[in-house]
Amino acid sequence: MVAIHPDALYERVRHAVPQVEWTTSFADDAAAIEALKVEKNAVVLAHNYQTPEIFHGVADIVGDSLALALAREARAVEADVLLLAGVHFMAETAKLLNPEATVLVPDLEAGCSLAESITAADVRALKAAHPGLPVVTYVNTSAAVKAESDICCTSGNAVKVLQHITQDWGVRSAIMIPDEYLAANMSAIAGIEVVTHPGRCEVHERFTPKDIADIREGHPGVVVVAHPECAPEVVAAADFAGSTAQMQSYVEQERPARLALITECSMSDNLAANNPEVQMIRPCNLCPHMKRNTLAKIRRSLETMTHEITVDADVADRARRAIDRMLEIG
Ligand code: 13P
Ligand code: SF4
Repeated sequence: MVAIHPDALYERVRHAVPQVEWTTSFADDAAAIEALKVEKNAVVLAHNYQTPEIFHGVADIVGDSLALALAREARAVEADVLLLAGVHFMAETAKLLNPEATVLVPDLEAGCSLAESITAADVRALKAAHPGLPVVTYVNTSAAVKAESDICCTSGNAVKVLQHITQDWGVRSAIMIPDEYLAANMSAIAGIEVVTHPGRCEVHERFTPKDIADIREGHPGVVVVAHPECAPEVVAAADFAGSTAQMQSYVEQERPARLALITECSMSDNLAANNPEVQMIRPCNLCPHMKRNTLAKIRRSLETMTHEITVDADVADRARRAIDRMLEIG
């Protein structure tokens, strides 16, 4: 990997960050991060909800939660260090799939309301209350919760996973945790009954059908795309629902003239920068966990090699089994 000259760095973000803001707030840290990446043989993986100076400025690999966990393998990246600019469960998943790499997060407090809504003991209690039902667990959970599960899913493949267990495992109902909205949205499409858990994304639960009605009234012809962590009434009012990667593919294929993304704020900023011809209506809510990451913290993380993510070996083996079952479906 070759270090990028500081003057060339602004070219990466000129479509997304004003020059004066870049020069005064971001340029020093970005240049230091580029040098540290070379020194430590590190790559920066950034979720689609990271702010533009991270997403466009210093990230080597960007995507949804699953893409980030798989990125090293998919791209044959020989990095020793993976710095995950996202939230804790994403870094843990990256560690499960890349056990020999050092996985760092810039801020250990970057959590997730869904991951925090459920413990391994809660899953054991659900299994005891519903014996025989397979446990389908959203990737937005701790490794300890994944370890109690039969199979994982993401927002991008949940329907496929539910259809697979219906057809290949012959089950008619399942435990699907921890997002009650994702479970309702996906089980309705897959045609399977699910027992769920009262977890919600604190960002997506705030959107309402009235938000969408107001957007349509104020912006005729707008195409509305929602994340499936939104309530079923919100997803029903949208034109399309999908993971953050599926939102991006939808926009790149359909090229709507006017678009409203019912999701976290930075998704619109990052998509707008890459699709300037799309008029973006921005009814966004901020994820406070995603927003804990900054260029200054990423720089410090690489300088000090903190905070390293580790997973207990027994938990890791069992959690990886649930992830591998999902990956086998393709
Ligand atoms: P994606 O996997 O769709 O990127 O979602 C992650 C997330 O945290 C959504 O709130
Ligand atoms: Fe968790 Fe929601 Fe934030 Fe995603 S947006 S990390 S699901 S709290």
